[in-house]
Amino acid sequence: MAEEQAPPAGPDLTQGVAPGDFTGEMLLGHVGDEEVLLVRAGSEIFAIDARCTHYHGPLADGLVVGDSVRCPWHHACFDLRTGEAARAPALSPLAVWQVEREGDRIVVRNKREQPKPRGKVATEAPGRIVIVGGGAAGFAAAEMLRRREYRGSIVMLSNDAAPPVDRPNLSKDYLAGSAPEDWLPLRPDSFYAEAGIELRLDSNVTAIDARARHVVVAGGDAVPYDRLLLATGAEPVRLPIPGADQPHVHTLRTLADCRAIIASASGARRAIVIGASFIGLEAAAALRARDLEVHVVAPEQRPMERVLGPGMGDFVRALHEEHGVIFHLGDTVVAIDGKRATLKSGGTLEADLVVVGVGVRPRLALAEQAGLALDRGVVVNAYLETSIPGIHAAGDIARWPDPHSHGNIRVEHWVVAERQGQTAALNMLGQREAFDAVPFFWSQHYDVPINYVGHAEQWDEIAVDGDIAAKDCLLRYKRGGRVLAVASIYRDLASLQAELAMEQEVVR
Ligand SMILES: Cc1cc2nc3c(=O)[nH]c(=O)nc-3n(C[C@H](O)[C@H](O)[C@H](O)COP(=O)(O)OP(=O)(O)OC[C@H]3O[C@@H](n4cnc5c(N)ncnc54)[C@H](O)[C@@H]3O)c2cc1C
Ligand code: FES
Repeated sequence: MAEEQAPPAGPDLTQGVAPGDFTGEMLLGHVGDEEVLLVRAGSEIFAIDARCTHYHGPLADGLVVGDSVRCPWHHACFDLRTGEAARAPALSPLAVWQVEREGDRIVVRNKREQPKPRGKVATEAPGRIVIVGGGAAGFAAAEMLRRREYRGSIVMLSNDAAPPVDRPNLSKDYLAGSAPEDWLPLRPDSFYAEAGIELRLDSNVTAIDARARHVVVAGGDAVPYDRLLLATGAEPVRLPIPGADQPHVHTLRTLADCRAIIASASGARRAIVIGASFIGLEAAAALRARDLEVHVVAPEQRPMERVLGPGMGDFVRALHEEHGVIFHLGDTVVAIDGKRATLKSGGTLEADLVVVGVGVRPRLALAEQAGLALDRGVVVNAYLETSIPGIHAAGDIARWPDPHSHGNIRVEHWVVAERQGQTAALNMLGQREAFDAVPFFWSQHYDVPINYVGHAEQWDEIAVDGDIAAKDCLLRYKRGGRVLAVASIYRDLASLQAELAMEQEVVR
């Protein structure tokens, strides 16, 4: 006989709870074997699925803002009335449940039919939208266009062989061998046909004719557009050193790159990671999980110091060393000859595979060819419009006016790319929606997540709350007394609150 499973924690919400049972704005309970979250927003009570649709973050530990709730892990935001994933990285809605009051008790009934999202639907919309790029920004744009009931044609051209995937996973669980293949696609293959999105893979766009309003795909095919979204992302910098073109020397951007590293790692004993960047160190952690000996070679003295400061840099280094990573800092690889890598300091290292993680460059060739204004990225205005009417840009290529840091910035963050794709989609439909999200990224090293909100290229003070070494901290990067960014480890609620404060600072 099958063992009976205990229902999830918390009260049975079908039996009702009293308002006094709430300790804050949320109360976690269950309906049958499903976790359900009761949320009080003003005088109303809502019941929603308790787990985020991104990676199942516990929304009960999140933040209620107006009639929405934000996820503690990667700051997705859900509309409490409709369940809509109003802000990426979550893209799928939460189920919402019927709530009734019986006397002074609050009772949860059935799951409601999924309500429609509340945003404006597309009324006067262009007939043909073309998206160049099948990554974070391109996918989020296409999905949002259909969510807003845009009925025209969407053609998505990607020079990748794989449909849009959860790229951050490629340096984390999937590379470590702890995530199955079916976690990777952002949507199943059938989604595109069902949603009427013509996804053309292996389609390299070689030119944009802005006057004729079409793009040219390798092979000569011209694809006409009324609105064009350029979301070509970035590509890894390759090292200009002898031997960098050997098959066991990898960069990591695509699913194919990741599979190639996994193939090289199988049966391998030792790996070199060149670069102590986020991707390099995440790859180092993943390769340690595969039991490889891992050497990290990087020119800086402290990993991640430029972005996170010295305290966090020392912590990240110590964390990787605890897990057996061997650092060669203040050094670089000058040549790779078969399995032997020669260091600038004169030593050599033997390795079966090499992963190069020395940064990325925005893919600007198309933008340049089309004559778009460039400034170390594609220049866009607050509506993500480029200098040529009808062409928007989003994601790693876009440099936009960030109202929080008061600068024109370009970042390489998954969540920013997705949110820009979504905003660009609304603007292609004729709405005037400024992109004003506070930048957010996360990085994961073993069991330690680092969350970062805001943008601080320079600071004059880092105020540390808590204890970095104890993995319980929040760091405020300040300039002239103003908080520009906040990094945290296991201080998720405070990170959400900091994000909200940054949003409100701009609104005021
Ligand atoms: C391994 C890895 C891990 C990461 N982890 C994190 C993380 O933990 N947190 C975080 O915030 N960020 C992370 N990032 C960064 C994040 O993935 C990027 O910021 C994000 O993918 C950018 O989205 P995008 O749409 O601009 O570009 P991409 O996602 O790179 O998509 C670009 C698309 O354009 C296509 N393309 C390019 N040129 C052409 C052309 N000429 N014709 C047709 N198609 C073209 C490409 O094939 C691709 O489909 C990670 C990146 C990598 C590589
Ligand atoms: S788990 Fe909720 S945003 Fe990632």
